[in-house]
Amino acid sequence: MTAALPANATIGIVGGGQLGRMSAMAAARLGYRCQILTPEPNSPAGQVSAGVTLGEYEDPAALRDFALHCDVITFEFENVSAEGLDLLAALRPVHPAPAVLRVSQDRIAEKAFLNGCGVGTAAWAPVESFAELEAAVARIGLPAILKTTRLGYDGRGQARLRRPDDLAPAFERLLPRPLILEGMVDFASEISVVAARAATGAYAAFDTVENHHRDHILDLTLAPARIPQATAAAAQAMAQRVAEALDLVGLLAVEMFVAADGTVLANEIAPRPHNSGHWTIDACPASQFELHIRAVAGLPLPAARRHSDAVMKNLVGPREAALWPQIVATPGLIPHLYGKTEARAGRKMGHVTRLFPRGGLPGEFGVTAALGCLAND
Ligand SMILES: Nc1ncnc2c1ncn2[C@@H]1O[C@H](COP(=O)(O)OP(=O)(O)O)[C@@H](O)[C@H]1O
Ligand SMILES: [Mg+2]
Repeated sequence: MTAALPANATIGIVGGGQLGRMSAMAAARLGYRCQILTPEPNSPAGQVSAGVTLGEYEDPAALRDFALHCDVITFEFENVSAEGLDLLAALRPVHPAPAVLRVSQDRIAEKAFLNGCGVGTAAWAPVESFAELEAAVARIGLPAILKTTRLGYDGRGQARLRRPDDLAPAFERLLPRPLILEGMVDFASEISVVAARAATGAYAAFDTVENHHRDHILDLTLAPARIPQATAAAAQAMAQRVAEALDLVGLLAVEMFVAADGTVLANEIAPRPHNSGHWTIDACPASQFELHIRAVAGLPLPAARRHSDAVMKNLVGPREAALWPQIVATPGLIPHLYGKTEARAGRKMGHVTRLFPRGGLPGEFGVTAALGCLAND
């Protein structure tokens, strides 16, 4: 698409979660309507959008009905089948292209793609049978991580292999096959880059950020990452290389490891808004969600500029969700809630952002103190 989508046009978003919700809110500010495809009544994205198609992602009738409501289609959820993607793409412009989603949906395709465009990753091997797992472990060594190739998130569908005895139970538990074995990266930190790319080739990337996980779920993002300038630059170059190799139109997050020696390795890519980019709503003139919508709608891309340093903390599960009254009463905590009615364990219910003057991001203790009632015990 070269012409910009006119005001009041409808952007279709596949998926009804918080990433769709915040994308739809950014779209509304730019004068667009959103149509959400989701199987979930009263979804976080549906609550703030002009229309909802209630249906399964694999149901051709639902996909067709959804597409016919839209002028252009994008995603907050990547796991639509190849047939589903083709059906959507036959009816409307789809950004990012189905080929991009096919790479990010499958950890084997993803790792092969990354290595193929010169981006380093952990050592890895596809695993179809137990004999292949033993051979892969003999080559890659222990510790290692065995993962399902599809539908994993927040650490689901993974097993850590520390000792030879761990192989058989992990292989039995993880389904479907093929699986992927990855060498364990002894990382010094985890970082990510969120970048947008337009159909014109215009490109804008937010500063490299630092991510801290708890129970395999993102807990904190620090912007900018507290890493040497050369490491941040290597991460930026990697993200741009990936976006260009994918011929991306839309938004892309690249999750990376920084090894002890400073080498940057790619972990995974997500061609959509990313949890590690939520801080941009409050710390940047144009957020990751605005850049996502602009790229998809063919609007000019502004610079991904950061006016403040920021800490973003996720509100996960019932315990942190229950702190909401204290959170909204704490000056300086910028609250975001996603409209989910049920606070199940491990579920992302919202997030808070705390801003600092540029260059003023505090150290470990300062970050904890700045989160007030949310400081980790
Ligand atoms: N090869 C690896 N080496 C070290 N840690 C890893 C590796 N793969 C995953 N992890 C850890 O597990 C987390 C989740 O894994 P990831 O592959 O990103 O899956 P998900 O789709 O669940 O985010 C990572 O953020 C990292 O902390
Ligand atoms: Mg991940």
